[in-house]
Amino acid sequence: MSNDKISVALFGFGCVGQGLYDVLNHSEVLQANIAKICVKDRNKERKIGAENFTFEKNDILNRKDLDVVVEMINDTKEAFEIVSTAMKNGINVVSASKKMLAEYFEELYKLQEENKVALIYEGSAGGSIPIIRTLEEYYDNELLSSIRGILNGTTNYILTRMELESKDYGDVLKDAQESGFAEIDPWLDVAGFDTLYKTCLLAVHAFGVVLKPDQVLNLGIQNISFDDIRYAREKGLRIKLIGSAAKQGDKYRVFVMPRFVNKEDELYKILYEYNGVEVEGAFSCKQTFTGKGAGSHPTGSAVLSDISALTYRYKYAYKKLKKQRARLNGNYNAENLLDTDFAIKVYIRYTDKKELDALDIRNVVEEYRSPGVNFIIAEVGFKSLYALKGNRESKVFVCAVE
Ligand SMILES: NC(=O)c1ccc[n+]([C@@H]2O[C@H](COP(=O)([O-])OP(=O)(O)OC[C@H]3O[C@@H](n4cnc5c(N)ncnc54)[C@H](OP(=O)(O)O)[C@@H]3O)[C@@H](O)[C@H]2O)c1
Repeated sequence: MSNDKISVALFGFGCVGQGLYDVLNHSEVLQANIAKICVKDRNKERKIGAENFTFEKNDILNRKDLDVVVEMINDTKEAFEIVSTAMKNGINVVSASKKMLAEYFEELYKLQEENKVALIYEGSAGGSIPIIRTLEEYYDNELLSSIRGILNGTTNYILTRMELESKDYGDVLKDAQESGFAEIDPWLDVAGFDTLYKTCLLAVHAFGVVLKPDQVLNLGIQNISFDDIRYAREKGLRIKLIGSAAKQGDKYRVFVMPRFVNKEDELYKILYEYNGVEVEGAFSCKQTFTGKGAGSHPTGSAVLSDISALTYRYKYAYKKLKKQRARLNGNYNAENLLDTDFAIKVYIRYTDKKELDALDIRNVVEEYRSPGVNFIIAEVGFKSLYALKGNRESKVFVCAVE
């Protein structure tokens, strides 16, 4: 690959694809020729000429003159097909599709090794925050103890507006949908799945731990109400949706959950659509990275940075992952990596006590009941919270008390 003019083909010309197109056209350093852009909908109006597009993936995947394939589509299975075929054909790939990357991580890792190609994906977690390469390179030898972050701009935007404007969830969500800060179907964001995929990817690069998204607990803010915000406010706290991975002996506690954070916490100050990631190491102590976590140009700029990295033959070395594999000697499964056997102190707001039946409540430290609002603060067996993962029927709101 030459540094002068690299040949790039894109899959997807939506929010991220168009953002990349713009930042590529404004880049004075990286000279790239966009060979073709593959999209799906033949009837959609495009901002640029029809000669730039194809609707047939093999028009790109069968080409021999490409340096990089950039995958930015919103179809997980198809994204995996495209990315794996490109790698099998010996082409380096950049991807922004966190769900696809998290769900197929094992397969994608193998494909990189077998085909001696690079797959890099800085735009998939933290948007414009360069966190994956930082974990991979800067924290290469550092003994990291934990990583925790606000990784989803939509939910942080909703939580911020609820608090600062004293509004209820439904009203802010509706507004956010109208102004483009939330999807028409917000489930993946508000139920914590988007944060889950990103947390799984960060766990790989922070600790070398590969977990399937369905093995990791994610609770979201879909059941939050202004009562919860008021409760936090009265105590000088804020509620943030946080994905975290922390070393616990020779296992890891990895989960996504709303949490109360206090004013001293750097994540307290991350507002609206901004993201923040705090990394804690044995020697570096706490460091926080903040920036726009999503959006067309911020994500496009992270993707551009990946394309640029490929021009100097960058690839993730996955040293921590290789070390974990060697340590576990083949027994590289969730039971050996994931610590779920602990109690966690949580605030639970509920309507009917029956809603708590599925939970292993061990020790109630505070209880409040009124005609409108009921909540408890209790130590709960962590494993039992999996009953609420992706559970559309449950109406309880759970928030970790730190
Ligand atoms: N939006 C963000 O801020 C952001 C941030 C980080 C990561 N991501 C990830 O980046 C990816 C793209 O997100 P987005 O927001 O740009 O999505 P989007 O705005 O919905 O655009 C999706 C694009 O994918 C194309 N597409 C869908 N299926 C395809 C197929 N089978 N073959 C070729 N093209 C196909 C669509 O084609 P048509 O134009 O023909 O419909 C469209 O151009 C997703 O995985 C998302 O999770 C997004």
